[in-house]
Amino acid sequence: MSDPLRLGIAGLGTVGIGTVKIVQKHAALIAGRAGREVVITAVCARDRAKNRDADLSAYAWEDDPVALARRADVDVFVELMGGHDGPARDATLAALAAGKDVVTANKALLAHSGQEIAELAERAGRVVRFEAAVAGGIPVIKTLTEGLAGNGIRRVMGVMNGTCNYILTRMDSAGLPYETVFEEARALGYLEADPTLDVGGIDAGHKLALLASIAFGTKVSFDAIELEGIERISIDDIRRAGDMGFKIKLLGVAQMTGRGLEQRMSPCLVPADSPLGQLQGGTNMVVLEGDSVGQIVLRGPGAGEGPTASAVMADVIDIARGCRMPTFGQPATTLSDPVAAKAAAAAPYYLRMELLDKPGALAKVAAVLGEAGISISRMRQYGHESTVAPVLIVTHRTTRDAIDAAIEGFAATAVLTGPPVAIRIEQV
Ligand code: NAP
Ligand code: HSE
Repeated sequence: MSDPLRLGIAGLGTVGIGTVKIVQKHAALIAGRAGREVVITAVCARDRAKNRDADLSAYAWEDDPVALARRADVDVFVELMGGHDGPARDATLAALAAGKDVVTANKALLAHSGQEIAELAERAGRVVRFEAAVAGGIPVIKTLTEGLAGNGIRRVMGVMNGTCNYILTRMDSAGLPYETVFEEARALGYLEADPTLDVGGIDAGHKLALLASIAFGTKVSFDAIELEGIERISIDDIRRAGDMGFKIKLLGVAQMTGRGLEQRMSPCLVPADSPLGQLQGGTNMVVLEGDSVGQIVLRGPGAGEGPTASAVMADVIDIARGCRMPTFGQPATTLSDPVAAKAAAAAPYYLRMELLDKPGALAKVAAVLGEAGISISRMRQYGHESTVAPVLIVTHRTTRDAIDAAIEGFAATAVLTGPPVAIRIEQV
């Protein structure tokens, strides 16, 4: 048997402790599968005195993650602290410069510095693996880089933030408003320390940017994602969409078009009876479409101690086995600079508006849609007792530009009480 593979783990929170537990519980199984032992030599966190749910007494302790990353008795630096800059970035760069391989669960770091890190890793002859960074326990990076390596990828999409899916499905099933369910999610510990990362679509956007890089051979371009969170989704939107046979999901879509790379992370309507429509709670789903394979659907836990540590260990075991692959599936220097394309592909849209209930109001709305070249597929006005009528319109296929033109046109009619909610209906 070869020498043991020695890990230095920085971060002993949910994922870090989960990883320690797997190394301890499955030492023999891992050694059998990897052909060598995998051992932890040193660990690091902020507070040494904190009570943690694992026995760490056999490991050396470092207060400084950079010092851990440079230790002579560490072969693989396992970064499980989080944050797109600061210690996570410093220690990852230090590990590569010191000739260590890196495993990380940190999508924020790679979404911001992925290209720099991948190039440094290749210059140093090291690997950076990040299965845990996208969709938790779902082996989506491996599927894309290895299982689908012979495919031209047409489209990558999915629900990649469990917290948002929990909030949306809980609002739906319990009939509760956004604010109430947001507080529930906070109490359950689902929200990131900065909740905007979740509900603003940023965390899911980080994940989409990483998948798009692998899928289309482009440099990670998180800043080019059209990003919209779920904060404006009301219980009314969820109920009304349900009436029309749809569910609302925070959906990421990346596809290469003739105009360039389209990447968007935004609330979308999907058919209620589709696999995405039926996705409940914190579960994630990623849909990959290849020109030879067709469609692959991966579904599973997108977060949590066990699932995320499972993905960390898959990367560690690959390194122990001697599997060495470029960070984004091809040499970093061959990744192209993507041309960002605004989502111009036509799709049906759902419009919800409050109309002043007076003669000619609906006719004005219909005229604005007609002028914008938008055709109505279905329309419903709800019974009401006030002077304001709730109206829902599902359009035929149209573009976001046409919808934006219509929204401007509505403002000029003075028959809406405010801007309408406009949500794309995704074909899945
Ligand atoms: P967490 O529970 O907050 O744990 C973070 C750990 O990092 C803590 O042990 C903390 O130390 C340590 N740490 C923070 N700053 C440090 C510093 N400056 N020096 C040394 N140690 C430091 O976080 P987590 O949920 O395990 O997430 C870790 C990473 O995995 C993040 O990148 C996250 O995005 C990613 N991820 C998490 C999940 C999930 O389900 N939780 C899923 C997928 C990916 P103390 O304990 O002493 O405070
Ligand atoms: N905040 C993330 C989520 C954690 O809710 O999916 C896993 O990346």
